[in-house]
Amino acid sequence: MNDTFVFDYSGAAPLIKPGAEDLEPEISRIHHALHNGRGPGSDFTGWLDWPETYDRDEFARIKETAKRIRDNCDAFVVVGIGGSYLGARAVIEMLKPSFYNQLPAEVRQGPEIYFVGHQLSGEYLTGLLAILKGKDVCINVVSKSGTTTESAIAFRFMRRYLEDRYGEKEAAKRIVVTTDEKKGALKQLADEKKYECFVIPDDIGGRYSVLTPVGLFPVAVAGIDIDQLMAGAAEARQAYMDERLQENPCYQYAAVRYLLYRKGKKIELLVNTLPQMHYFAEWWKQLFGESEGKNNRGIFPASVSYTTDLHSLGQYIQEGERHLFETVIQVEQPGTDLTIFKDNQNLDGLNYLVGRTMNEVNQKAVEGTLIAHAGGGVPHLGVRLPALTPYHVGWMLYFFKKACAVSGYLSGANPFDQPGVEAYKKNMFALLGKPGYEAEKEKLKNQIVK
Ligand code: PA5
Repeated sequence: MNDTFVFDYSGAAPLIKPGAEDLEPEISRIHHALHNGRGPGSDFTGWLDWPETYDRDEFARIKETAKRIRDNCDAFVVVGIGGSYLGARAVIEMLKPSFYNQLPAEVRQGPEIYFVGHQLSGEYLTGLLAILKGKDVCINVVSKSGTTTESAIAFRFMRRYLEDRYGEKEAAKRIVVTTDEKKGALKQLADEKKYECFVIPDDIGGRYSVLTPVGLFPVAVAGIDIDQLMAGAAEARQAYMDERLQENPCYQYAAVRYLLYRKGKKIELLVNTLPQMHYFAEWWKQLFGESEGKNNRGIFPASVSYTTDLHSLGQYIQEGERHLFETVIQVEQPGTDLTIFKDNQNLDGLNYLVGRTMNEVNQKAVEGTLIAHAGGGVPHLGVRLPALTPYHVGWMLYFFKKACAVSGYLSGANPFDQPGVEAYKKNMFALLGKPGYEAEKEKLKNQIVK
């Protein structure tokens, strides 16, 4: 057990009686299936040992290239979607100051960082190109398949922008590609144009890839210590190696979610109590949603930010349908804090808080909320970490990835595939007239949604 990162399910105790449902043998079976590569989707479990097995030479090259970009670029654009986007964004937002891009360059000491290719908006891309005017720009395009429509369209525009501005040769020095080692359209282009490349390992799927070059390279460009990120993940890997449910908090999280689901708690709200964790929740939603939402089953992963959402969704959570549980992430030491000062007039009535920090007030608000929600029939699980540092973030990423894999197996799903993602693509290609989709188009004729 460790005190670095704590998982606590006492907030679900009225519903979950430890020992009442003996999941110990099933968890032990799943542990062995996962570690011995005998479970469904076992070709995609490379992330399990990755914090130990990752390629040190490539890691060194990631740091060198990131330094070159930090020293020479004003703006860095990451092009990608889903698993090729959310991890990097989540880590950067958690570990860089709020309003990072707007800070003066001498304070920032690295390029502004932007993301594109994670939707299909001409408005957004136009806005981005306007922001880049007059700045020295480098980009990282991330796509395992190399053919994802959203990121491929954005890359087409970004590449033309760089080539028009710098010429083809100089543009090539400003484009870094993260993709498959050997195959795919992006790999072919990268080889032709001699772009610097990083590899997305074959045995690691998008939503499990944050600690590969997919996440590590943008995170390093942001100036975050990736050695520490990997160190945290490596220690989490060791810490969550015990097959016994009673000794493994990571497996307890998986087991408790499973039991809550069986008791009708079909929606899990990941609760952020710090605004910089918004994108962590987006990453977590993809991880669990794509891993478990299969065969007409699975907890629906949603997220809320407190206290912001107490003023919008708070009413529903307190008194709406009782199919919710919360998983609350609490960070003991926020980066910076402010102490509330005295106001002689005290018209706002806040002088009772003089000398207390905003973080203390936030913690009390969350504590009060959880008591109220428990009274209203919403159980909660708690995850606590001492601070948002690269080490603790690396640990937390590993915790949730392993818990997700075990949780997926517990619910009978293959947590490493995503067949349902193809359905929209097939229809979109047919509707757009992509060659090869004529038969699909015919089938859709009477189904068009007006
Ligand atoms: O988890 C996944 O597999 C997906 O979210 C993919 O990462 C996403 O669709 C992007 O795919 P690609 O990296 O091939 O562009």
